[in-house]
Amino acid sequence: MKFIVGNWKMNGTSESRGALLKSIRNVITNNKIVVCLPFILICGNDFGVTLGAQDISEHDNGAYTGDISGQMLNDANVKYVIVGHSERRTYHHETNEIVRAKATAAIKNKIVPIICVGESTEEKNSGRTMSAVKKMLLESIPLSGEFIVAYEPYWAIGSGKTPSGSEIADVFETIRKALSNAGRDDVALLYGGSVNATNAKEIVNIKNVDGLLVGGASLKSDTFLPIIKSID
Ligand code: 13P
Repeated sequence: MKFIVGNWKMNGTSESRGALLKSIRNVITNNKIVVCLPFILICGNDFGVTLGAQDISEHDNGAYTGDISGQMLNDANVKYVIVGHSERRTYHHETNEIVRAKATAAIKNKIVPIICVGESTEEKNSGRTMSAVKKMLLESIPLSGEFIVAYEPYWAIGSGKTPSGSEIADVFETIRKALSNAGRDDVALLYGGSVNATNAKEIVNIKNVDGLLVGGASLKSDTFLPIIKSID
């Protein structure tokens, strides 16, 4: 079983949500399909598709204007939440410490956090990919509970560029070893960054890759369904 997770980011309407979820509901697959919607499109959820969110507050409730808590997400039947996406780390200045607190809040509310890690262009160009990813990983993961890790190189997101198969294999081996040394051999690892129907199958078959986190191509059934169908 592989994970195929869509991240809609700040895109979509109730109409486009309806169209995509309707097409996914009818697909026969052995894989776990999750769609991470903007908060406002999660509500009223009885869509027959496993839903995720794209952020969570580290707090349970209270005076945090604009934030959404794990209690609220759980109440809306959300099962997964992306935390530490590079866009949140960059535009909302989320640190590893905040990401860990958000992952912990998710677990407390029976939601599985998908913790994103990746290197910047500068880190890649200066040969620091492994050390950057490992540091971000070990400082962002919670101390216990179920979680998933998504490796998303910053420079691959929305760029049409992906690392080579051997680069992906090397980073996943580093992540796997780091998690194993931390006593966690049970964590699913996803790849994200410019996944499409042409490269999905090849990437998901790389050693240690348990699934995909798909951005732009998850918005429409024309592009998301071929990815889902390409993976047995
Ligand atoms: P793209 O698939 O659009 O490159 O986005 C990847 C991503 O950021 C998923 O979280």
